[in-house]
Amino acid sequence: MTKITFVTQDGSRYDIDAANGTTAMENAVKNDVPGIEAECGGACACATCHVYVDQAWMEAVGEPEPMEEDMLDFAYEPQPNSRLSCQIRIRPELDGLVVTVPERQA
Ligand code: FES
Repeated sequence: MTKITFVTQDGSRYDIDAANGTTAMENAVKNDVPGIEAECGGACACATCHVYVDQAWMEAVGEPEPMEEDMLDFAYEPQPNSRLSCQIRIRPELDGLVVTVPERQA
């Protein structure tokens, strides 16, 4: 298990024990994190699972693939630390990861 945290716009924190190999999005949905809609179910085709990765975790999370980068153009107010949470694969190196849910999805 890897601990990850979603922070919502009202400052609520959702600390989740995430199974390695799952995606951050799957864990958000399973734990009812508000604001992660994930309309396409993880196919990198909707941009409604958008999150902002905490600066300290940018390197560990890594760069988005070109397909994800294209989809991020459709996200609400994308920033340099934007990622689609369905494309963040949970692994032990991400233990402690913090991401913030945007004000709204696309
Ligand atoms: Fe649709 Fe992530 S769930 S892009």
